[in-house]
Amino acid sequence: MAVIPVALAGRAYEVVIEEGLLARLTEAAAPFFKPYAGGRAVPFVADANTHRLFGERVNAHLAAAGFAAEWFVVEPGEDAKSWAVLEQLTDWLLAQGVTRKDHVFALGGGVVGDLVGFACAVTKRGCGFVQLPTTLLAQVDSSVGGKTAINTRAGKNLIGAFHQPSLVLIDPMVLATLPPREMRAGFAEVLKYGLLGDAAFFAWLEANVEKVLARDPAALEHAIATSIAMKARIVAEDERETEDRRALLNLGHTFGHALEAETGFSDRLLHGEAVAMGMVLAAKYSAHRGEISAADADRAETAIAAAGLPASLAALGLTCVGAALVDHMRHDKKAEGTTLPFLLLRRLGEAYVARDVDLTDIAAFLDGELAA
Ligand code: GLY
Repeated sequence: MAVIPVALAGRAYEVVIEEGLLARLTEAAAPFFKPYAGGRAVPFVADANTHRLFGERVNAHLAAAGFAAEWFVVEPGEDAKSWAVLEQLTDWLLAQGVTRKDHVFALGGGVVGDLVGFACAVTKRGCGFVQLPTTLLAQVDSSVGGKTAINTRAGKNLIGAFHQPSLVLIDPMVLATLPPREMRAGFAEVLKYGLLGDAAFFAWLEANVEKVLARDPAALEHAIATSIAMKARIVAEDERETEDRRALLNLGHTFGHALEAETGFSDRLLHGEAVAMGMVLAAKYSAHRGEISAADADRAETAIAAAGLPASLAALGLTCVGAALVDHMRHDKKAEGTTLPFLLLRRLGEAYVARDVDLTDIAAFLDGELAA
């Protein structure tokens, strides 16, 4: 078991990692069940997959503890992060009689967490929520830190709010049913922590990749806890990403978002896969600038490939040129006028925000990678 505090003044909360947490939810989140002790249903939001996999288990546990759940179930996939679903969900929360003192339970991956977090940020000007992440990616990244958002015509995550959960409960056992591809995509975000801020953790991941992907309980808990401890530290230092601290968590994301945009934000390239490829490009570009050695860039690439993640731009089979990828980057929400901060590596285990990157040079570099 690991308990990791997120030390935000006035909004501090804990991330608890323990096998079997879902089966003892009413104890693990006891304060947040109290308002429902009078018989009001506890609001749960899930997607159709997580509801099918865990809904009955949650219902049975709640019933045994004298509670009843009411479910709002969304279709799996990014389409749930829309104005339309947000409207349906907030209408439902109001119909449930949710008050500012209440907590809504989000059971699912990043889509459910982002949607519920944003709905709770705006319902009655802010009610509480508890994150119950069910994918590795959500467990190590999106459920912690309070970034919530929906997607709009203009792009992904452009409408949202910083709204911290009151508790994050991570039950690694829920990963038993996660498809291997999703597991690998989540592992990309785990590798990110090693690359951006902890060389020893990166070396541990190189040695333990198979164990983590095979869901070895001890290895998995170590990977999740180490990742969250770093995220919690960074979020506590720079909650709103104004100090070049939280931005470090975007390692691989600028290249990655461009690849996601080029592939239509589709199953062709999952977010974690795009981040993995983006981290290879960030490492290679750092080597291209002479900031890390070619051998270190190779080491990053090898670790990513060893996890079964995309590590070669040429192998993705894109038909575009580098300038087209740079064009996607210009629409990135991190763009600052005509420039774009890039997350690069000073060494394996230390990322930094570079503000002097020439986008023409990036396009030429990408042309080389596309043709390699
Ligand atoms: N996923 C990056 C962040 O939470 O800041």
